[in-house]
Amino acid sequence: MPAKLLKGAEVAKEIREELKCEVDFLKNKHGVVPGLVTLLVGQNPASQSYVRAKQKTGHELGFFSVQDDQPENLGEEELLKLIDKYNKDPKIHGILVQLPLPKGINENRVLLAIDPAKDVDAFHPVNVGKLMIGEPDYLPCTPAGIQELLVRSGAEICGAEVTVVGRSNIVGKPIAMMLMQKAKGANATVTVCHTRTRDVKLHTSRADILVVAAGVTEYVKGDMIKPGAVVIDVGVNEVGKTADGKRILKGDVAFEEAVEVAGAITPVPGGVGPMTITMLMKNTVRACKVWNRIKD
Ligand code: GUN
Repeated sequence: MPAKLLKGAEVAKEIREELKCEVDFLKNKHGVVPGLVTLLVGQNPASQSYVRAKQKTGHELGFFSVQDDQPENLGEEELLKLIDKYNKDPKIHGILVQLPLPKGINENRVLLAIDPAKDVDAFHPVNVGKLMIGEPDYLPCTPAGIQELLVRSGAEICGAEVTVVGRSNIVGKPIAMMLMQKAKGANATVTVCHTRTRDVKLHTSRADILVVAAGVTEYVKGDMIKPGAVVIDVGVNEVGKTADGKRILKGDVAFEEAVEVAGAITPVPGGVGPMTITMLMKNTVRACKVWNRIKD
């Protein structure tokens, strides 16, 4: 029997409806509007498309949503000044600097400049550290989306063997950290594979839950998956365009093979992507409440 599809797009819609009610309540009861700025430096087409989607969702939820496009040749010091401006802006509660940044800009220095209270990506070392000790203020968006999807789909995470393929700061490392925590929706035994792992298949094929964020199109084949496993495909790889110019996307998992082996699997598109954006919105609502000292 083919795997159950974990349709992130549907779960994301449900959560966004809940968030919309919360935004309306904040407006009507407290007179505050969550504010989000997305800063994009340069014209990377994939980044442009991600940022557009984030802005669109922010607008739909009734946020004060600002898109700040900057040229490729923006200097690091200028970018730091912009961040400082948004750190001080009372209408802005969340600051997102879209990654990757152009060559020549020190990404860590930029992330360090964002006020941790406005760091809705949870990339600032303070937020990374808080996550590590199990006391996060904000969860990083893609890992939070994955965890939410796993929990809502009824996957047994406690005690599960989880294998994560990929060790990025955005997905691999934080999802491993989150799923190994002594916490609800976690308590898994986590293995992380990366480019120097000797035998990736050895680890993927014993995983009850397999999270793939390798950045390589269809890297995980059907024969690398344990029958019945839950497979989370984080990859978004453009492999061409349709006749009318739409992007054709494939994940990091060979879907046609995997769907015959796995118990459940996220599609690409419509799986993890919409969950990531929704978690960003959730973090921004939280940042707005913290800024305005409004209790949950
Ligand atoms: N680039 C790819 N994913 C992300 C993300 O979640 N946040 C930011 N800021 N940049 C990204």
